[in-house]
Amino acid sequence: MAFRAVMSRRVTNRSSDIGARWMSTWWGNVEPAAKDPILGVTEAFLADPSPSKVNVGVGAYRDDNGKPVVLECVREAERRIAGHSNMEYLPMGGSVKMVEETLKLAYGENSEFIKDKRIAAVQSLSGTGACRLFADFQKRFRPDSQIYIPVPTWANHHNIWRDAQVPQRTFHYYHPETRGLDFASLMDDIKNAPNGSFFLLHACAHNPTGVDPTEEQWREMSYQFKAKGHFAFFDMAYQGFASGDPERDAKSIRIFLEDGHLIGIAQSYAKNMGLYGQRVGCLSVLCQDEKQAVAVKSQLQQLARPMYSNPPLHGALVVSTILGDPDLKNLWLKEVKVMADRIIGMRTALRENLEKLGSPLSWEHITNQIGMFCYSGLTPEQVDRLTSEFHIYLTRNGRISMAGVTTGNVGYLANAINEVSKSA
Ligand code: LMR
Repeated sequence: MAFRAVMSRRVTNRSSDIGARWMSTWWGNVEPAAKDPILGVTEAFLADPSPSKVNVGVGAYRDDNGKPVVLECVREAERRIAGHSNMEYLPMGGSVKMVEETLKLAYGENSEFIKDKRIAAVQSLSGTGACRLFADFQKRFRPDSQIYIPVPTWANHHNIWRDAQVPQRTFHYYHPETRGLDFASLMDDIKNAPNGSFFLLHACAHNPTGVDPTEEQWREMSYQFKAKGHFAFFDMAYQGFASGDPERDAKSIRIFLEDGHLIGIAQSYAKNMGLYGQRVGCLSVLCQDEKQAVAVKSQLQQLARPMYSNPPLHGALVVSTILGDPDLKNLWLKEVKVMADRIIGMRTALRENLEKLGSPLSWEHITNQIGMFCYSGLTPEQVDRLTSEFHIYLTRNGRISMAGVTTGNVGYLANAINEVSKSA
């Protein structure tokens, strides 16, 4: 064999040994991640072959047959869009028209802040993307700040601020015994936090508890925030799902605006327009003046650019088509109310069924709580029994997505809850 061929084989053998050694170490330290506490429930549900299985895990609306719903206003918007749009990139800040319409829902149709161009706002990848963009913005421009998060909260809030490397503190919110708001402790925590702290607030239909402050309590909170110079960041993922009316559900935000706060808001169309998979939402930050808003928006865009460049087009077009047309907007408002009312009906049905079964426990909180979720009070062990014995899937904190309850499964669900709640 020629000298060169022998040498090259030797080099190849040696380099492939080195290559193999490195290859075996690249990801050798990677352990499987823990299952997501919410989306992991959907995975387990899908893998269960039982015909009687019920999914009340993820917060996604279902009709009374348990089927996902595409709203009629969305169908009509898609018909109008079909063939009329190109596939160009949106700007880094997303669809200007969609953002404009979205701000009206949160800040008010005739908001002076919109007129005065004091709001820095960008289209976001739904509510999660809005929260994450804000968390990154907070880290970049207030690097020493922390975020106060309610106990409990949507599990992903913790992940979002953790990954943005913003330290987290908690504040009291839910009272397990009353199954309502722990308002006194909440106010104490607001008072005791260092001046100028960041707080994450759920604007309406608190996830997972379904417990919201009353209007009066929001006013007291706003007053105290002012006294302490705190910053309120509202996550409004369920506008319309609390009362059936998006305008009423924006009350908490309007109270803070009336009191002169500069706030941030995460908005989402996943739930109230049923655009879950389209990932369309908005992050806005109310600023001191137009100049500041221009600067803040440019920085939000600069954060977005290396992450995903610019947001997706289709969902944004659907939203702007609906909200930009008075008839379609009215149809949407009606459809939101239908969804909210079906959930309210299911709350009553679940409670009545449990009471008819002679459950000695109080189930009043099922109808007192609002929005998509019922924080049942079931323990993680009782939830495990619901899943293993009855094929009913929900998060281990006892949260029931009322949107997954139907006239067809409410009796089965009540019976199973009654059985597992007999033992603590
Ligand atoms: C939920 O809380 O179930 C929803 O917001 C879905 C999700 O992404 O967690």
